[in-house]
Amino acid sequence: MTRLVVVSNRVTVPKSRQKPQAGGLAVALSGALAEYGGLWFGWDGRVEETLPGAPERTEVDGITYATTPLTPYEHDNYYAGYSNTVLWPLCHFMLARMEYHGDYRRSYEAVNERFADELTPLLEGDELIWVNDYHLVPLARALRERGVERPIGFFLHIPFPSYGLLKAMPGWRDWLRALATYDLVGLQTAEDRRALETSLVYGLGAEWVEGGVRLGDQVIRTTARPVGVDVEELAALAADSTGSRRVNRLVESLGARDLIIGAERLDYSKGLPHRFDAYERLLEDQRRRRGRTVFMQIASPSRENIGEYELLRETLESRAGHINGRFADFDWVPTRYMNKTFARGSLLGFFRIARVGFVTPLRDGMNLVAKEFVAAQDPEDPGVLVLSELAGAAAELEAAVIVNPYDREGMAAGLEQALSMSRAERVERWQQMIEVITRNSLTAWRRNYLADLEAAAAGLNR
Ligand code: F6P
Repeated sequence: MTRLVVVSNRVTVPKSRQKPQAGGLAVALSGALAEYGGLWFGWDGRVEETLPGAPERTEVDGITYATTPLTPYEHDNYYAGYSNTVLWPLCHFMLARMEYHGDYRRSYEAVNERFADELTPLLEGDELIWVNDYHLVPLARALRERGVERPIGFFLHIPFPSYGLLKAMPGWRDWLRALATYDLVGLQTAEDRRALETSLVYGLGAEWVEGGVRLGDQVIRTTARPVGVDVEELAALAADSTGSRRVNRLVESLGARDLIIGAERLDYSKGLPHRFDAYERLLEDQRRRRGRTVFMQIASPSRENIGEYELLRETLESRAGHINGRFADFDWVPTRYMNKTFARGSLLGFFRIARVGFVTPLRDGMNLVAKEFVAAQDPEDPGVLVLSELAGAAAELEAAVIVNPYDREGMAAGLEQALSMSRAERVERWQQMIEVITRNSLTAWRRNYLADLEAAAAGLNR
């Protein structure tokens, strides 16, 4: 059987399979590796002045992890710089937050070259190579330059920008050409897939063919495969967690009040200030909700050394303080804002007892929190998902209360609709959503993507 080589920017080596990594994506990728056998290569999350000559190799449950640190320069320019201050805002439609420097770009290329240098000797010539995410677009080209001929697929976990936006990024043509080196490019939604193909056609002169585009004599296949969650596992974790001390303490602290919950990384793409404003608007418009609801926002620290993220943290602290100062009473505080990370089980327990999951990114490739919220619900008495139409997940979760995250008034109305929804309607909407996310599970995602990659490989005559 073909070996699988997965490459992603961040790799956490698990202690053992009994203690799997926290993130859903990590679970999906290690699941794929467990099935095929193989290697996982990427950054180990450390920043070191001196690089070891070769990646550190660790074997856990039949999977080889080959990891490397970044130097402080690479971290600031490749990771914080080009990946997260150029590509991240660009792909999330936020040009005003994009800041381009030539050094960022050069470091991005150089790190991808270094990764290719370190990965090439680990290849045995019989593998499928699967590269994940925007940090690593130039990797396939760098591998090809080193003589690697095996099929290479790419999956973009974040949105693909429209052609008009893409052109705002200096060097966009070369970046797009590098992406066109892959045999298969996977995206989260049909909309992202169309955006990529349009850029390849209008920007590089490719032509549409069945299953993708042709550029010169190369066919770049494209596929839309929405990332999913492991519904059964999440539902079991959420149900187990409801009796836990933490969840009980939350329930006691709420009393008879309805909980509106948001939980994500502290990132400007998540639309958190807009969300706080919408809750304030709800309290303005619906006096009866005062004293009867609590909005709890968990924002886990992320990319803390990037200026925009520090600013956002300050903004949210002041918004939460403002709402509480304006509406709190001697026995009720309307918002609970936490800048910390909770264990997965606790979070799922919190989701299960919430009346509303408030998930309103300004732009998001998929948004797994939306799916996790649905998976965590009690089938007999589910909460309501209020979801941004700009999250990739909105294409699947049509039975959510769909809102526009820039519309404060519309979001407040969405919250009111969710809070006053009958149990019968909540159950009906939840059933529709659970059916979709069970079908488009995490396992289905990786199996479908890898089947597409195998099909692309079979069509190659390299
Ligand atoms: O795809 C977006 C992503 O890179 C995820 O893979 C990851 O969980 C998240 O953004 C945060 O990324 P990081 O902390 O590595 O910058």
